[in-house]
Amino acid sequence: MSNSILPESFLKNEGDFLPLNGTDYIEFYVGNAKQAAHFYKTAFGFQSLAYAGPETGVMDKVSYVIRQNKLTFVLTTPLRTNNAIADHIYKHGDGVKVLALMVDDASEAWNQTTARGGKTYMEPKKLEDDFGEVILSGIHTYGDTVHIFVERKNYNGIFMPGFRKWESEYCPTSTGLLYVDHCVGNVGWNQMNPWVKFYEEVMGFKNILSFDDNDISTEYSALMSKVMSNGNGFVKFPINEPAEGKKKSQIEEFLEFYNGEGVQHVAIATANIIETVTELKKRGIEFLKIPASYYETVLERVGKIDEDLAPLSDLGILIDRDEEGYLLQIFSKPLEDRPTLFFEIIQRKGAKSFGKGNFKALFEALEREQDLRGNL
Ligand code: FE2
Repeated sequence: MSNSILPESFLKNEGDFLPLNGTDYIEFYVGNAKQAAHFYKTAFGFQSLAYAGPETGVMDKVSYVIRQNKLTFVLTTPLRTNNAIADHIYKHGDGVKVLALMVDDASEAWNQTTARGGKTYMEPKKLEDDFGEVILSGIHTYGDTVHIFVERKNYNGIFMPGFRKWESEYCPTSTGLLYVDHCVGNVGWNQMNPWVKFYEEVMGFKNILSFDDNDISTEYSALMSKVMSNGNGFVKFPINEPAEGKKKSQIEEFLEFYNGEGVQHVAIATANIIETVTELKKRGIEFLKIPASYYETVLERVGKIDEDLAPLSDLGILIDRDEEGYLLQIFSKPLEDRPTLFFEIIQRKGAKSFGKGNFKALFEALEREQDLRGNL
């Protein structure tokens, strides 16, 4: 018997019925995957990795796989109109379809989650080629978004069966993007708690942080957010819902243009945000502009930091601190014409939080953009 107040089952790690090793890949459904792959390679510094399409026996779609460090994107487009991918793009525009999670046992991940009420997207299936086998399974999450569990411990090919190596002579240099830090979902009115419950009950996640509309509201744009994390903290999914404000919440604008719930932003880690953002800007990526006044008082709020303030202020990088350290972050403008998906670039220097101290400055910047679109 243990003297701990924690239940025995938790100490034996029986509590984590869905052990995750991190994000395996993120798949985007896009209108033109060839051009999207070029954009992500050129602007963000990804490398060509793998390809699937008619030449590899896939007749109804094309997928390009690109990689930078531990960050893997799959860009998929339909080749025909009568196709679930085409329907997805018609409804949502370009966006994230799959948040794929790395597991040791994809069959067990499916058994555990569906036994707890998860809705099947893909029953466990084995894909094989000369390089071994990959087992995939999947469940639905908010909107039309899905989680695919990827078991690749018996595979040493380039990506997975069905793909061939994509050789390219065009190899832009890296921008220092490392891995997925967190992925945020926007859900409808009063839907945050049901989805928090889904991540708790179906996937064994814990709610590690909550923000209500007092934390996250400017004069106009209010939202509520809860951060869900898996057991080892490798996978974090904040969930946002709109809150009543004077005018339309930024989450409502997303829901309207995405035509439903979906991934609002992917936060990507870097070890040197000044170098990464300098490079991204050079390559044409646009970020939200933060007023110079933010930098007049920021050090009073966050205390001493290692970086000079001038380059942070020039680039518009935000700073926040929690009990464990500080973080630097910046938010891109939407990556497509609809005001839907965007990226966050984040450098953590000890902090494990999400930049609550920046919400006001950030949302005011978002509202200026929303207003320019006539959606405020
Ligand atoms: Fe974020």
